[in-house]
Amino acid sequence: MKFFIDTANLAQIAEAESMGILDGVTTNPSLMAKEGIKGKDAIMKHYTDICKIVNGDVSAEVMSSDYESMIEEGKELAALDKQIVVKIPCTADGIKAIKSLGDMGIRTNCTLVFSTGQAMLAAKAGASYVSPFIGRLDDIGANGIELVSRIVNIYRYYGYQTEVLAASIRSVQHIIQCMEIGADVITSPLKSILALLNHPLTDNGLKIFQEAADQMTK
Ligand code: E4P
Repeated sequence: MKFFIDTANLAQIAEAESMGILDGVTTNPSLMAKEGIKGKDAIMKHYTDICKIVNGDVSAEVMSSDYESMIEEGKELAALDKQIVVKIPCTADGIKAIKSLGDMGIRTNCTLVFSTGQAMLAAKAGASYVSPFIGRLDDIGANGIELVSRIVNIYRYYGYQTEVLAASIRSVQHIIQCMEIGADVITSPLKSILALLNHPLTDNGLKIFQEAADQMTK
């Protein structure tokens, strides 16, 4: 299972990378804006900076919504670095752009996916990744994990190569549930990844061992 970090914050990406468990990064316009990045040159430089830190795929999202502009943006983003995966929204123009970019050898991540029907179209268009949003579905009383599980099963049934990238993760439970249902990738804030380490018996055991170690070295 691959672990991606869902942020545009360079310090957090570097921290996750230094743990040796990071497989990639996902960003979106909201996460980029949060870092105070302004203007096309700064945006492009930021993606290049991210690629220098992490040794894995980096999703960079298009900011246009019509087919022609998404293709132009996608080509520019992909030219930045071979690690770039162009993130495209799951719309009619988006599906068409995923197909065309794929034909040019450019990898894509179909984002804002909230149904199995959308996921099917993303796979048929040849998306490298599909991103179902767990937290945003949970927010409206639906079941995000159930959607991820259904997409995993449908892709296995038909043999699609598109990787299921579980997104909009809000908790350590979301990550564990994704592990149990066979999601190919999770993308999560650093906080939830680090929370996987939390266990009171680990803390307690460490305290006991530390006390014994102190006694021996006094
Ligand atoms: C996916 O790639 C998105 O960037 C992200 O996971 C969205 O998460 P949010 O719903 O917490 O904004």
